[in-house]
Order: sequence, then structure tokens, then C-alpha cells
Amino acid sequence: MKKLVILISGTGSNLQAIIHACRSGLLAAEISAVVSNKASAGGLDYARQAGIPALSLDPSAFADRQQFDRQMMAEIDNFHPDLVVLAGYMRILSPEFVARYAGRMINVHPSLLPAYPGLHTHRQVLENGDSEHGSSVHFVTEELDGGPVILQSRIPVSGDETEQQLQARVKAEEHTLYPRVIRWFLEGRLALRDNQAWLDNTPLPPGGYCPEHAYR
Ligand code: GAR
Repeated sequence: MKKLVILISGTGSNLQAIIHACRSGLLAAEISAVVSNKASAGGLDYARQAGIPALSLDPSAFADRQQFDRQMMAEIDNFHPDLVVLAGYMRILSPEFVARYAGRMINVHPSLLPAYPGLHTHRQVLENGDSEHGSSVHFVTEELDGGPVILQSRIPVSGDETEQQLQARVKAEEHTLYPRVIRWFLEGRLALRDNQAWLDNTPLPPGGYCPEHAYR
């Protein structure tokens, strides 16, 4: 059985979706551990209730980002994951951390990257009157929210909704988007080569997989 370690900072709705995908058989994987940089992250409780080892590390207990990330690596490596899944993990990663999991760490970001890296994506979409929004799953590289995109989910934006409503719609998309990409990875179909995402030995275009392509 392939192993996942999932990193979170908050609610953990994506974590819940991944747990569900494992239980339903969509993903042939075991979630070996959930690790957070916040002890208060709601997702930790959910993981514990699901019988998954869940732990948190407090960044303020470490001298700097590098020391914190080194301890994170030690915790993660205890579980020998095939894939490290960032699911709402809201910390900037040190270069050493990124290098350790190069090609086996993915992130979900709530925008149609390269649009809106960083924070407050939903607010910016509404303020700018965009007609489209969505979420992107990408390989993690040193560039913040800048790694090669694997798959995106697009939704229309009407403009007469609140930031919270838009966020909820984006998260609902993520809950199918993310397990789908994790499945591709676990099936050995996905790779990071030369700073590009590949699916089935074919390089993906900048926006990730396109439905027009003949992939399933
Ligand atoms: C998700 O919408 C995810 O895209 C976003 O945080 C949310 C976590 O929600 N991630 C980022 O903004 C990373 N830059 P969740 O805790 O309910 O899964």
C-alpha cells in the first residue's frame, strides 16, 4: 500500500476528502500521518477520530525556518511516505525542505495559477470582477505557488456572492480535484521532470492537463 503524509494548517476539508477517497477505494493508499504547524488545526481532530496519527509542531519553539523544517522532515520521514500532500498548509517552505521531497510533494492552491499566487485569492477575484476562478494542483518547487501545474478546476464567477461563498465553491471543487491527482501519482502516471509536470510520459501544458487530451 502506498503511503501519504498530509500537511495541514486549518480546517482540513481537503484532508477529509482524501480520507474519504481512501476509504471508498478511489485511492489505494494509507494516510500514514497528518502533520500541522498549528496545534489548533481542526483537521488534526478529524484525523485522530479517523485513527490516523496526527501531530503538530510549533514554529515558535524553533530558532528559524530551517530548524523548524528540519524537524518537520524528521517527523515526515519516520513514516516513509511515497507522496507528501500539502492540503492547506500555510507556511513558506525552506529550500532544503522543497529539495528533500522534489517530485513527490504536491500542493493545492485556490486560484487558476499563475493567477493569484499567495493569500486572499477569492477576495482578489471578486475585487477584479473576474468571470472565472478555480483551483490548481501543482508540484511544489522553490517558487511559491509557482511549481508546474498538473490539473485545474474552473468555475464561473457571478460577482453577487461573498468571499466565503466563493471559497466554499472552490473547496467543493478541490475535494474531487485533489484525490484525482493523488491517484494519478500513486498509479505512477505522474512525474516532475526538468521543472515540468508529465502525465503518462507526456509533458503537460502550462495550465496542466486539458480535457481535450486523450487522458482518463
Ligand atoms: C484550500 O482551499 C487550499 O486550496 C488552500 O487552503 C484551503 C485549505 O482548506 N491552500 C492555500 O491557500 C495554499 N496556498 P481546508 O483546510 O479546508 O482543506
